[in-house]
Amino acid sequence: MSEENKSSLDSLTALCKRRGFIYHSSEIYGGMPGFWDYGPLGCELKANVKQAWWQFTVRGREDVAGLDATIIMHPKIWKASGHLDTFADPMTMCKECKKLMRADQIADILAEQKKKPVAHNPEGTLSCPYCGGEMTEPKPFNLMFKTVVGPIDDPSNIAYLRPETAQAIFAQFQNVTATSRMSVPYGIAQMGKSFRNEVTPRNYTFRSREFEQMELEFFIRPDEAVEILHGHVVTLADNPDLDGPVQDDWGWEVWHKYWVEQRKKFLNAVGLPTDRFVEYWQKPDELAHYARACVDIEYDFPFGRQELEGIAARSDFDLSQHQKWSGESQMVFDDPLKQAAKKMDDGAKKAFIAKVQAEWSSRGKDPEAAEKFCLALFDGKYIPHVIEPSAGVDRLMLALLCEAYEEQKLVDDKGKDDVRTVLHFNPKVAPVKVAVFPLIKKDPDQDRIARDVFKNLQKKVNCVWDVSGAIGRRYRRQDEAGTPWCITVDAQTVQDGTFTVRERDSMEQKRMSYAEFLAMMYEALEF
Ligand code: GAP
Repeated sequence: MSEENKSSLDSLTALCKRRGFIYHSSEIYGGMPGFWDYGPLGCELKANVKQAWWQFTVRGREDVAGLDATIIMHPKIWKASGHLDTFADPMTMCKECKKLMRADQIADILAEQKKKPVAHNPEGTLSCPYCGGEMTEPKPFNLMFKTVVGPIDDPSNIAYLRPETAQAIFAQFQNVTATSRMSVPYGIAQMGKSFRNEVTPRNYTFRSREFEQMELEFFIRPDEAVEILHGHVVTLADNPDLDGPVQDDWGWEVWHKYWVEQRKKFLNAVGLPTDRFVEYWQKPDELAHYARACVDIEYDFPFGRQELEGIAARSDFDLSQHQKWSGESQMVFDDPLKQAAKKMDDGAKKAFIAKVQAEWSSRGKDPEAAEKFCLALFDGKYIPHVIEPSAGVDRLMLALLCEAYEEQKLVDDKGKDDVRTVLHFNPKVAPVKVAVFPLIKKDPDQDRIARDVFKNLQKKVNCVWDVSGAIGRRYRRQDEAGTPWCITVDAQTVQDGTFTVRERDSMEQKRMSYAEFLAMMYEALEF
């Protein structure tokens, strides 16, 4: 991290503590690495980020339903998902200084300390980035937190705190499908806590041990079903319009790109301009074995370019695994598909099976399984494939804080240099939307009118009331909290009902009526 970036992260961290955005968890006992609490402003920011995501992903669409599942679930879920066997980081310990670290992060630690050369041991084996000592052979360390369910502390009662919210969506797929009356293509969304026993939590809240995720599993037809239904499958080569309504003939590739674009729109809407993040398309050898594509959206944090969120095309891996481990069918019945297949004669069906078998064989998949899959399709049945946009609440909050933070150099009324600390939050996520002040607190008319404005606005949005100090100081306090508008009731308000509205970023003041202010505020808050 450059000195400049480090100092900007240090200043932001100090502001977050001072203004009640983020505190160390259990601070009075010395804190807990990887655990953070959100204070009065932080919890409002968090609620707004989650509400914005829910509005954009669930309520603002016709094809997504919500879910709120438990954190502790049947342990078999984690066997089926692969987390029990493979959700591990390679851990290594220095034989000299006994420091524990992730073997795959040694290079990063060395890069961070590049000004500080470290002696490598002569055998060329891993060496400690802190003292140059020899490291132990890396061993996998499972990141799931274990707990015991019920009063008997026995291995048979071991359960896990979920390391992602996604698996609950797969486990409840059939229930939600039956009760929401939605049919594929459609999605299930969930927000909530996840837990990972990260070996090296670091970079403020970026990698925490307790955090929140906002995940969407968007279920789509396998491309072969789209082919039967439409006689073709739209791919990216067809240059589909991803800004218009979704289309029934899109293949998985188009759905995946569509969700990448949707996520970018969401990030823009909450205050991250497109030129502030990059799309990283994972290379084929970086993809998980079941994934067909995965895009990381990366943001330039002060400590380097890092993953903000990911959008993965996960094929039918998850539902197939749950079908295998639970014994419960995870297939859906798709009547339009059955009707379309009925129109195919035997010759067309044979040719279709042969084509799918050839395609599956080229990907090393079993041709017999391909035939079984096609026969189920002709009956209108399949296990849906899934596109998964998965975001971290805390990571997005950190990006929004980094993006919003500015120490502005100004010259005050007396010509003196001044620094204004301001959080330029988009009003949609700003923790406080409006601050209301009477210009002269001892003026009973100003106080009464300002109180009325405050009470009325309080019913609509989060507001604060402030009468302490000069008006300039009150503005500065709100700038640090990222409040977009400050309303000041003055002598003219008593005459004509209009008040001044000071806008945070431009610092301009305009006179407005209450109705004009409401219209302007609602327009800025609407998705
Ligand atoms: N279901 C897929 C999944 O969980 P992931 O890439 O492991 O994928 C998705 O996590 C997102 O969750 C990440 O992009 C990040 O925003 C957030 N996340 C993951 N681990 C985190 C951690 N230790 N602390 C904070 N956020 C984390």
